[in-house]
Amino acid sequence: MNAASPHGNRVISGMRPTGRLHLGHYHGVLRSWLELQHEHECFFFVADWHALTTHYDDPSPIPGSIWDMVVDWLAAGINPGSATLFVQSRVPEHAELYLLLSMIAPLGWLERVPSYKDQQEKLKEKDLATYGFLGYPLLQSADILIYKGGQVPVGEDQVAHVELTREIARRFNHIYGREPGFEELAEQACKKMGKKNAKLFDKLRRKYRERGDQEAREVARALLEGQGNITVSDRERLFGYLEGGGRVILPEPRVLLTKASKMPGLDGQKMSKSYGNAIALRDDPTEVEHSLRTMPTDPQRVRRTDPGDPERCPVWRLHQIYSDEEVKSWVREGCRTAGIGCIDCKQPIIDAVLDELRPIQARVRELEQQPDLVRNLINDGCEAARNLARETMEEVRHAMSLVFP
Ligand code: TRP
Ligand code: SF4
Repeated sequence: MNAASPHGNRVISGMRPTGRLHLGHYHGVLRSWLELQHEHECFFFVADWHALTTHYDDPSPIPGSIWDMVVDWLAAGINPGSATLFVQSRVPEHAELYLLLSMIAPLGWLERVPSYKDQQEKLKEKDLATYGFLGYPLLQSADILIYKGGQVPVGEDQVAHVELTREIARRFNHIYGREPGFEELAEQACKKMGKKNAKLFDKLRRKYRERGDQEAREVARALLEGQGNITVSDRERLFGYLEGGGRVILPEPRVLLTKASKMPGLDGQKMSKSYGNAIALRDDPTEVEHSLRTMPTDPQRVRRTDPGDPERCPVWRLHQIYSDEEVKSWVREGCRTAGIGCIDCKQPIIDAVLDELRPIQARVRELEQQPDLVRNLINDGCEAARNLARETMEEVRHAMSLVFP
């Protein structure tokens, strides 16, 4: 049984600073961030150390990319009032946790993470047979565990990294959470909640442990979370006691699979800067209009009078994102009967994309006028993140006997 997070809903997610964002980012990860920020406590960060694992040979574009990316997040609607925004390297505690976790991370676990071999295959021009690259999923584990993140919104390609994080957390708790006399300590901690709560907790714990009653587990967890007068260590003991393990120092996060971006690139392939088929959030409207107008359509619709089939056309996939039922049936009908031309068909998309970009670009322009505002906001975010990270490191050091008389 896994030991879930007492901060079960805290959301942690990072993005590598790859520069300006495009519509693929917007309709993929960013959309999910935008929703989550209203529902949960969120930490979103720029993973600049992660960028170094693959771009160590030329890091000079990274600072500019960090800046552009943060501005684009804000312009797209990420709200620093709801989410904590920061830069990974400004919270050096991530590196300390990464180091300490490296002591218990079996090499085989890292070698088996699929991205290790896949990326080496894909990025043949780079030498990725480095220690940093092998260790990067563990760095990601540290990113998550240092905030005791409960949920990690990631795409399909990152699921294995969150799985690794769960295994590392389990191993950590197993090794360092098994203090001598655990059961007695847990019993004592229980009493500190008061007679009534202690009795209730005991009842719920039995229900869960003896009969697998998940509801009892949830109620017990809520009860522990609501206890203001017990210490952090006692709470961890009781979480562990409930689950049947040792103390839960680093809780296991859950994967929150973000819907893959349905946004096709201008050539119908996945939108990506490296394929040269992307529309950046900051692209000039005339340029956007031009690239949409010249976007390929159903290859079998050569002349205006040839009937087409939307299923063969990348423009149709854009209609699925941007158009309502009425427009979509107009397209289906008009395309199959050659009643409309492709330029007619693209017009509603052009309008919709430009409408979507307009407010974002206006906010980019505003933000670019206020570099101090952006800077302050990042500074505040780094500080807030760092305070939490420090707390976790205190506990981790203690658990690993890094305390000096
Ligand atoms: N590795 C992720 C990527 O390449 C970015 C990342 C770093 C991340 N640390 C994270 C995502 C922690 C989620 C949680 O996209
Ligand atoms: Fe594609 Fe629209 Fe042209 Fe049909 S009419 S081929 S859906 S662009």
